[in-house]
Amino acid sequence: MYVCLCHAVTDRQIRDAVESGCTSMRDLRNELGVATQCGRCACHARDVLNHALMQISEPMTVAA
Ligand code: FES
Repeated sequence: MYVCLCHAVTDRQIRDAVESGCTSMRDLRNELGVATQCGRCACHARDVLNHALMQISEPMTVAA
């Protein structure tokens, strides 16, 4: 799904960027151009970023 229409950035691209080391909106702006034109995508992009960061930081469960 597109998050940033101005730069045609999808939620998958944001998740991939987080997996590659992006940890902030500044990183996303520099890496993908998110929220650098009209800015309407900033709120949704931040939600996707935070969700992706939480998924990465969750401890891995060990099967018993
Ligand atoms: S929709 Fe992202 S900058 Fe316009």
